[in-house]
Amino acid sequence: MVDQQAAAQCAKLCDSFYLYDERSLTRSAQTLRDSFPGIDFLYSVKCNPHPLIIKALAEKGFGADAASLGEVLLSRECGLAPEDIYYSAPGKTPEDLARAVDLSTVIADSPGEVERLQALAQSRGITLKIGVRINPDFTLYTANGSSSKFGIDEETVFSLLPTWNALPNIRIVGLHVHCHSQELDAAILRRYHENVLALARRFSAGLATPLDFVNLGSGIGVPFTAQDRPVDVAALGKSTSALAAAFQKEFPGVRVLIESGRYATSAAGTYMSKVVDKKVSRGKTYVLLASTLNAFLRPAVNHMVEGQNPGKAPDACEPLYTGGGTVEFLPLTQTQERETVTLCGSLCTAADIVAEDISLPRLSVGDLVAIPNAGSYAYVLSPTQFAHLPLPRQFFICSTGQILES
Ligand SMILES: Cc1ncc(COP(=O)(O)O)c(C=O)c1O
Repeated sequence: MVDQQAAAQCAKLCDSFYLYDERSLTRSAQTLRDSFPGIDFLYSVKCNPHPLIIKALAEKGFGADAASLGEVLLSRECGLAPEDIYYSAPGKTPEDLARAVDLSTVIADSPGEVERLQALAQSRGITLKIGVRINPDFTLYTANGSSSKFGIDEETVFSLLPTWNALPNIRIVGLHVHCHSQELDAAILRRYHENVLALARRFSAGLATPLDFVNLGSGIGVPFTAQDRPVDVAALGKSTSALAAAFQKEFPGVRVLIESGRYATSAAGTYMSKVVDKKVSRGKTYVLLASTLNAFLRPAVNHMVEGQNPGKAPDACEPLYTGGGTVEFLPLTQTQERETVTLCGSLCTAADIVAEDISLPRLSVGDLVAIPNAGSYAYVLSPTQFAHLPLPRQFFICSTGQILES
């Protein structure tokens, strides 16, 4: 639901902007918290690192899943404690590790990284507690694992555990798994959670030190179309919390984590751009928005992929391409009259088209077009430097109704 009053207020200040709504954000965060008793949540900062979003979720008890040293630092700046920041990413540099170990729990992503962390801890004369990201021998959809650039294959982990247990300066205290995002089927997610906890049991049996945490990753998706059925979060929460409670009975004090990105933020964001021109070319009506591809990449990518595969759009390739028919355009106009238009941006490239020959309420110069589901993987994934157009601004409607821009 677009807050039309807030949109009109922001539109006085600029032509293209994101509007994030704290009420929606806290609603989704609260739904997760209420549905999964006993489970702690992290926010996957990479999907939208806006500080007001990190802070709003932190107020709801969300820690941070940081995918870079930058996100670790940002999470600290937003007030999160080191014990609530988990840093998991492939390809960390020695500099990343050296700074992050004081500010977060580092999750090693390769055997080499475990060795580098040992060397770092030894050089400082400290003992370091770390986690390990495991590439499990299962996926959300199959009983066997696949090759991945993320984490360490489960088989390799088990063969290395005796070596790691003997490291003088490293204590492995947790595991992290994340296989897939944007899953809407609660039964699939439940089975995945069950599999990760079973893996955690096997992992713990080979560890010399007690387990402090199990990070189940995420995968909890969001509906993009009217046909998408939202995840039954209540049912999933009930079953996963029961699994976690049984696990915590066996491993008292262990923290079971889920790190959510899309579910927490996607619906809380709306992208809006003003109609800046309208013209007809050989019978086709073009509505030009101030910024499309450069400010919110996903609609242009979706249109590009759909255009190459008319009538049979390929499966999603998240988060860049969310699948056929997954972008909605909502003109904020009162008129009932409709017309068929091609909706595009103002970049000097033919690729900057977001919809062709669609029926919309008649638009005039100055009207706003809203695109919902822009709270995650939207601003951050967009080529905002292209053509030196003004950057889209980002506004945050607080629960009090106050509009902030940081
Ligand atoms: C490691 C990791 N954790 C969490 C997430 C967030 O996932 P989701 O948006 O499914 O909640 C992602 C997204 O790609 C991820 O790569």
